[in-house]
Amino acid sequence: MPEAVVEIKGLTKDFKTLRAVDDVSFCIYPGEILGLLGPNGAGKTTIIHMILGLTTPTSGEIRMFGCDLKKTRQACVQNANFSSTYVSMPNSLTVKECLKVFARLYKVKNRNKRITEVLNIFEIEDIQNHMVRTLSSGQQTRLNLAKSLINSPKILLLDEPTASLDPDIADKTRTMLRSITRERNISILYTSHNMKEMEEISDRLIFLHHGKIIAQGKPKEVIKNYRGKNLEEVFLKVAREGHP
Ligand SMILES: Nc1ncnc2c1ncn2[C@@H]1O[C@H](COP(=O)(O)OP(=O)(O)OP(=O)(O)O)[C@@H](O)[C@H]1O
Ligand SMILES: [Mg+2]
Repeated sequence: MPEAVVEIKGLTKDFKTLRAVDDVSFCIYPGEILGLLGPNGAGKTTIIHMILGLTTPTSGEIRMFGCDLKKTRQACVQNANFSSTYVSMPNSLTVKECLKVFARLYKVKNRNKRITEVLNIFEIEDIQNHMVRTLSSGQQTRLNLAKSLINSPKILLLDEPTASLDPDIADKTRTMLRSITRERNISILYTSHNMKEMEEISDRLIFLHHGKIIAQGKPKEVIKNYRGKNLEEVFLKVAREGHP
């Protein structure tokens, strides 16, 4: 087994009386896409926020690139990035200006070249001078994804990245994400409520329910172990009956 890019042990997060994440342990390995799935409120976004250092865990340990995230957050997040359909970019900037700001923040070398590359990957060169506030939700999502690659991260945390994409761009996005994991050995933690997408894109899955891991494995194994025809069926059993 190669050394994990992210190693999580006993991670727990309480919001007052609510235990949102409950003693969760897992690893993300180089070049893999790990799908994190579970019903609304299961704790997926909270886990992503803790890995990004945006939310402080109540207890447990997060190691990134072999280092304790608490002690080396700045160095770790320089090599990580994030995209969520639900996080918007500054409204008063153009698409290109946004990417410039993030390229500076991440101290990207050859900024203009990298900006052209990420605009290209998500086919948004034609709207690079448009103001963010005028973008459609799918265009905003593509800008968000372009931003998430600006620093050529080693770990990408994608929280429902395809939620507002049309089927064509969603498919291209999945193909692109697959190829960057293969070619550049990038690891991805991925959430989506589209079970077909999760089945297709994930090398491994972690199923969360009420903050706890209740199932994990390769998509085919999870489906087989829980006697579903597909992941959607397993998901519905879990969401409705509380167990697979
Ligand atoms: N800042 C916060 N303060 C209080 N409670 C919170 C906070 N953030 C999240 N929660 C609660 O923690 C639980 C887990 O939320 P989280 O956003 O991680 O779920 P999720 O799995 O991402 O759900 P969804 O599929 O709806 O995005 C929810 O019950 C939510 O209300
Ligand atoms: Mg969420």
